[in-house]
Amino acid sequence: MARAFPNRNAEGSSRLLLLIAVNMLIASCVSVTRSLPTRLSSSPRHLCLLAAASPKPVQNKSFPCPLWSASFSFCLDRRPKSTTSSAAPPPSSMAVSADSLDSNPLLHDFAFPPFDVVEPKHVRPGIRELLRKLECELEKLESTVEPTWPRLVEPLEKIMDRLQVVWGIVNHLKSVKDSPELRSAIEEVQPEKVKFQLRLGQSKPIYDAFKTIQNSSSWSTLSDARKRIVEAQIKEAVLNGVALEDEQRKKFNEIEQELEKLSQKFSENVLDATKKFEKLITDKKEIEGLPATALGLAAQTAALKGHENASAENGPWMITLDAPSYIPVMQHAKNRSLREEVYRAYVMRASSGNLDNTPIIGQILKLRLEKAKILGYKNYAEVSMAMKMATVDRAAELLEKLRSASWDPAVQDMEDLKTFAGNAGAAEANQLTHWDITFWSERLRESKYDINEEELRPYFSLPKVMDGLFGLAKKLFDINIETADGLAPVWNNDVKFYSVKDSSNNPIAYFYFDPYSRPSEKRGGAWMDEVFARSYVLARDGAPVRLPIAHMVCNQTPPVGDKPSLMTFREVETVFHEFGHALQHMLTKQDEGLVAGIRGIEWDAVELPSQFMENWCYHRNTLMSIAKHYETGEPLPEEVYQRLVAAKTFRAGSLSLRQIRFAIVDLELHTKYIPNGPESIFDIDQRVGRMTQVIPVLPEDRFLCSFSHIFAGGYAAGYYSYKWAEVLSADAFSAFEDAGLDSDKTIRETGHRFRETILALGGGRSPLETIRETGHRFRETILALGGGRSPLEVFVEFRGREPSPEPLLRHNGLLPVPASA
Ligand SMILES: *[C@@H]1O[C@H](CO)[C@@H](O)[C@H](O)[C@H]1NC(C)=O
Ligand SMILES: *[C@@H]1O[C@H](CO)[C@@H](O)[C@H](O)[C@H]1NC(C)=O
Ligand SMILES: *[C@@H]1O[C@H](CO)[C@@H](O)[C@H](O)[C@H]1NC(C)=O
Ligand SMILES: *[C@@H]1O[C@H](CO)[C@@H](O)[C@H](O)[C@H]1NC(C)=O
Repeated sequence: MARAFPNRNAEGSSRLLLLIAVNMLIASCVSVTRSLPTRLSSSPRHLCLLAAASPKPVQNKSFPCPLWSASFSFCLDRRPKSTTSSAAPPPSSMAVSADSLDSNPLLHDFAFPPFDVVEPKHVRPGIRELLRKLECELEKLESTVEPTWPRLVEPLEKIMDRLQVVWGIVNHLKSVKDSPELRSAIEEVQPEKVKFQLRLGQSKPIYDAFKTIQNSSSWSTLSDARKRIVEAQIKEAVLNGVALEDEQRKKFNEIEQELEKLSQKFSENVLDATKKFEKLITDKKEIEGLPATALGLAAQTAALKGHENASAENGPWMITLDAPSYIPVMQHAKNRSLREEVYRAYVMRASSGNLDNTPIIGQILKLRLEKAKILGYKNYAEVSMAMKMATVDRAAELLEKLRSASWDPAVQDMEDLKTFAGNAGAAEANQLTHWDITFWSERLRESKYDINEEELRPYFSLPKVMDGLFGLAKKLFDINIETADGLAPVWNNDVKFYSVKDSSNNPIAYFYFDPYSRPSEKRGGAWMDEVFARSYVLARDGAPVRLPIAHMVCNQTPPVGDKPSLMTFREVETVFHEFGHALQHMLTKQDEGLVAGIRGIEWDAVELPSQFMENWCYHRNTLMSIAKHYETGEPLPEEVYQRLVAAKTFRAGSLSLRQIRFAIVDLELHTKYIPNGPESIFDIDQRVGRMTQVIPVLPEDRFLCSFSHIFAGGYAAGYYSYKWAEVLSADAFSAFEDAGLDSDKTIRETGHRFRETILALGGGRSPLETIRETGHRFRETILALGGGRSPLEVFVEFRGREPSPEPLLRHNGLLPVPASA
């Protein structure tokens, strides 16, 4: 079963699983990636250490969905399909003639990637030859490097970009046009690519040249963007240990290797422990309440495990701890002791026997602390945040603000749930506990909002939704989006190509849009990725810059006959979300390729434009302009709109607290935990649980043992990022609310400011732009601000003040209502 959340779209009778519905999604989310994941496998921050935003280079990090989050609906399945055919690698094509290299499209120069002609057979020879060439170029650069832009950064950008673009092509094809041949080819050359990246990231000559630039008398004349590039490269290299003395570096590298192994072991244990639990049910009464899709999945799982005649109708059914199996049980199974059994198994994963992650966690925390000390930091949280927008104190302060604001509403949620369960005649109404909450909140949600996802589909036809989205982009940002099919080669006939034009009708960017599901060759979910970043270094044919290009990929139901593709509301939000990322990539005005678009933006700030765009799905005029019945043209009934809006804040306090628990535990473990000290990791979890959970965490809860986000993913001392980005995006949207959402004029004006700051500045700011805009009203702010263009500064420039959590709390319905007289 490849889909993590099977057929949620197709679940005929299911109620709309609104944003907040899934309030017990647990750490298995790691296998499910957030909406922007391919970016991480192909973007400069992972491709090239020098530009990476995270200190750990080799790991293939992704943006997994947060646990139990309001953003859960965007955690779409990105798990690779299970390779059924055990594709043995084809006979090695060692002897590649120069001839076949000449005809290899991956090695050609191109204005648009040759998506139509790249085949699996091109991957091994193409990537190997590319790496060989880049290796030569890197050697040349190291021997000729000078601390100047033309002799350091420009050649470096060319090396990094070429690898990113070419790897991006094959990686993209793996996501949208997969085959066993392509997959095994990529798997074979990937380690060679990673090795090259490591070598690039630890280049001492390049590091030294950047240091010289930073220390030169011309430093103050560099543009903000260039300063940010230099600073980021240096910081990144330092975090990779480049600046250490030999002895220290040796120690550092040993720690890195050990940490890599421990993380690997950690996730293997979680995986194995998750697999180990199986519960076969033969009596239908025992799983009463489960919806048809969940029964279907459970029967399919049983069939896979040898019960060949299993059927959804008659069983037997197999329950596992994989999210698509676990979640429906917690939501729908009426049998309370079944829920308890499954819940307990879930939170105890990987905490005993030979799969016990407890000692591994201890070892990871100890080594991270040691690494931090070697690099001159007090603790690992400081290392993690060295390349992020937040600081340890600010993150902690924000979490505390959100925590205290969420507490009373969460207590109230609990009261409401007890009352509801009591009225429904539940014997346990007064002792609702962990395995009851999800079940009863589902029942409450159904009774309160009664939104049928399927019945809404006819109001959201793909063409109308896209028209509405493009219309919104025009209103907000004064851009025209036009079809440009045929201009660039594509990988499938359904793929559309668009150009984005400014108000004078000049193209400023392009994007591909691959809308429909193709289960046999395309991964599930929705994502945005970059194809090219805007760059003056990579300009060709006499143009001043290379224009940015983005991918937008969705998995909508294909049109059937005359019937267009019809979307769920959740899918509409997803398209808006991905388009927000794409806009930031495409509307950048940054000409320095290393910090243009989504490149070089801090991890905890990158979700701002995407979450920002989601807000528009709840904006009445916007939604009403896209939600028209595809046959009758009828608008969405007002009363349905009201229920959609109301459902958005359902149990927001409780959901917020759960996220905050994980974020605070993460920070505490990476700031306060002392290896072999008086407080164990589980003591810390219990302590944090007391201040963040209305119902105390079970004393035997071992959730930490499967918290892969922070022990095997990229979120160590970074889990707070989810909340951080939500605060930024809600606050950015509130600028529009302040100006007034009823008037197109004010929306347009605020949109202009958003575009010129958040979307345009990207990871830096270009000298060309600064000159071009001399005299513009921007000048005062930009020049007055000086220094780098950090996301915080860009935000302040847009918003006129620092970010505030109030708008998020208000959107979540978590601000106290003033006592009425
Ligand atoms: C990276 O991801 C691939 C595919 O998901 C996986 O097979 C591989 O083990 C991962 N590598 C690391 C270092 O986590
Ligand atoms: C920076 O430059 C100054 C003066 O040129 C020199 O004394 C100092 O050692 C340099 N620092 C580094 C870290 O290179
Ligand atoms: C409920 O589930 C438990 C645990 O699986 C099982 O032992 C029990 O028989 C079930 N009760 C009913 C009424 O099906
Ligand atoms: C499944 O059904 C087939 C045909 O009815 C039967 O021959 C077979 O024995 C069944 N298998 C099991 C495991 O019950």
